[in-house]
Amino acid sequence: MEERFRESAERARSSIERGRHDPSTFRAALVDVPATARDRWLDLVLGLDELHEDGPALPPDGVPYLPSSVDVLLRMVDASDLRASDVFVDVGSGPGRAVAFVHLLTGAASVGIDIQPALVRAARDLTSRLRLSRVSVIEGDAATLAGRMTTGCTVPPAEPVWRRCSTTWNRSRERGRFASAA
Ligand SMILES: C[S@@+](CC[C@H](N)C(=O)[O-])C[C@H]1O[C@@H](n2cnc3c(N)ncnc32)[C@H](O)[C@@H]1O
Repeated sequence: MEERFRESAERARSSIERGRHDPSTFRAALVDVPATARDRWLDLVLGLDELHEDGPALPPDGVPYLPSSVDVLLRMVDASDLRASDVFVDVGSGPGRAVAFVHLLTGAASVGIDIQPALVRAARDLTSRLRLSRVSVIEGDAATLAGRMTTGCTVPPAEPVWRRCSTTWNRSRERGRFASAA
């Protein structure tokens, strides 16, 4: 990645840590980065350098952890016209990358749900490290926790992940109202 993009990631991170984050400045810095480097840029901003492995808490038919791409998330945010007054829910939030990103991009409060305790711990570490007070993560099975909510699916429609996602999705959807951007 070009040095200037590394520097812009550092600046974005420093603003977040100092409580001086501004969603429109963040978006402008992000879209300045070439699309192929945006995922790495976000990982630098969030200080994510670890590849998270799935553990035994993932059910046999559960969708494994795989981060959504920044461009999928951007399209979802724009298509749903997500605003600071909204609440974004990520069903299957892993280590919190998407909930943190959507909050930083829009100012919306974000709630993640994940069944894997280790990933929930990682997400909580992330939110406390960056002091993201409007981002929270709940540990549990989405099929039982998801009540009435609207959410964007953050999983790219790649087989076989998408098919496996749909299993959790359909189980959860029986209990709620879902909007999918993927
Ligand atoms: C494809 S990843 C989602 C990645 C995340 N949305 C992101 O973009 O960074 C799927 C996640 O769903 C979680 N998961 C699978 N089955 C679940 C269930 N029944 N309830 C809650 N979370 C579940 C997995 O632990 C995994 O972290």
